[in-house]
Amino acid sequence: MYNSGKIIIGIIIFLGLITYPFWRNVGKAATPPKLEVGTLEKQCVESTPYMKSSHMQLLDQWRDDVVRQGKRVYVNSSGKTFNISLQNTCTNCHSKKTQFCDKCHTYVESAPKCWDCHIEPKEQEQQAARSDK
Ligand code: HEC
Ligand code: HEC
Ligand code: HEC
Repeated sequence: MYNSGKIIIGIIIFLGLITYPFWRNVGKAATPPKLEVGTLEKQCVESTPYMKSSHMQLLDQWRDDVVRQGKRVYVNSSGKTFNISLQNTCTNCHSKKTQFCDKCHTYVESAPKCWDCHIEPKEQEQQAARSDK
């Protein structure tokens, strides 16, 4: 006669071992990506914590300013002015879009569809242009 109790325990141990690589990572957060800011400038349009939490709202506001009000200049909280432009302002500084915007969005599983229409920065050319200075 087989000992069915031992067989079941054996099966449980076996399943535990073969699935170990999967449940080992449960509860551990994936390491956040290292971002390349892409500019030598020290300051963003607004403070870093504000940008981190609210750049989507700021971009919405920028789009409405341009498309609905024809307003093309943004005055930030310390009185500095910026051209309102996703491709000429944001990605002028954040020239390595893939290493900045995309990397973080992949991590948070967000995929904004802005680049269907707006032009992405040409990362190699901008790099060359920068090192000329
Ligand atoms: C279907 C095409 C389309 C998509 C998709 C789109 N936009 Fe736009 N966007 C436009 C057009 C057209 C304008 C007007 C351009 C102008 O007048 O300078 C504009 C203007 C803007 C402006 C202000 C001017 C500028 O050049 O930046 C911002 C900011 C902006 N969009 C942000 C976004 C963001 C953020 C997304 C993604 C969430 C997005 N747009 C997706 C077509 C699009
Ligand atoms: C003048 C250059 C400049 C412009 C223009 C600029 N940024 Fe920034 N941005 C920076 C710098 C520099 C930092 C990092 C500051 C720091 O390390 O504290 C930053 C930080 C950020 C962060 C936070 C990153 C993090 O590590 O959490 C986001 C998000 C961001 N920018 C998005 C944008 C968007 C969207 C635009 C356009 C609306 C924009 N930036 C325009 C220079 C710029
Ligand atoms: C530090 C991380 C981080 C960086 C860097 C970053 N984003 Fe985001 N972005 C987020 C998060 C988080 C959200 C919100 C995702 C959600 O709500 O689904 C978001 C959302 C957005 C949205 C709204 C998406 C939607 O579908 O409504 C836009 C537009 C956007 N980001 C543009 C940019 C641009 C342009 C850059 C680079 C200049 C950038 N982001 C850099 C973290 C980041």
